Amino acid sequence: MKFFVDTAEIDAIAELNDLGMVDGVTTNPSLIKKSGRDIIEVTKEICDLVDGPVSAEVTATDAETMIAEGRKLVEIAENIAVKVPLTWDGLKACKSLTDDGHMVNVTLCFSANQALLAAKAGASFISPFIGRLDDINLDGMEIIEDIRTIYDNYGFETEILAASIRSVNHILDSARIGADVITAPPAVIKAMVNHPLTDKGLDAFLADIKAADIKIL
Ligand code: E4P
Repeated sequence: MKFFVDTAEIDAIAELNDLGMVDGVTTNPSLIKKSGRDIIEVTKEICDLVDGPVSAEVTATDAETMIAEGRKLVEIAENIAVKVPLTWDGLKACKSLTDDGHMVNVTLCFSANQALLAAKAGASFISPFIGRLDDINLDGMEIIEDIRTIYDNYGFETEILAASIRSVNHILDSARIGADVITAPPAVIKAMVNHPLTDKGLDAFLADIKAADIKIL
């Protein structure tokens, strides 16, 4: 399973990247706003740091302008994936940009039927938003499961990028189902290391190290 980091914060990306945890990065207008940076500048900096796909989202809602924005975004670096919304115009932009050989991440996906359309439009990635579905009492994981089944049934190569991840259990469930990629905030990825029995066990070992004066160096 590939790990993308869902942030535009350079330091957080660099920390995880140094550990080999970063296969790509996703940004969106809200994350760019939060960073307080210029979209082109910060996206370039991320692309310089990370080898894998870096999603940068268009701002337009009509296909023609989305395509023009996409063409500008892909000039930033070779590893840009243009992010377009799952609207009819977004699908038109997806088809045009992927036909030109660019990576496209179709975002704001909330149903398996939408994901089917994105795959047919040639999307490189489909981003179903798990957390936002859970927020309205729907089952985000069920959508991931349905998309996995549909893509496997017909051999679609679009990668399932589980997005809007809010907890470590979202990552575990996505891995169980076989999502190709998760994108999660750095804090959620780092929280995967936590286990109370690890802390308890380490405390006991440290007490014995002290009691027996065990030294290696
Ligand atoms: C990533 O591609 C999405 O934009 C992001 O995961 C959305 O997450 P949120 O629902 O927590 O804003």
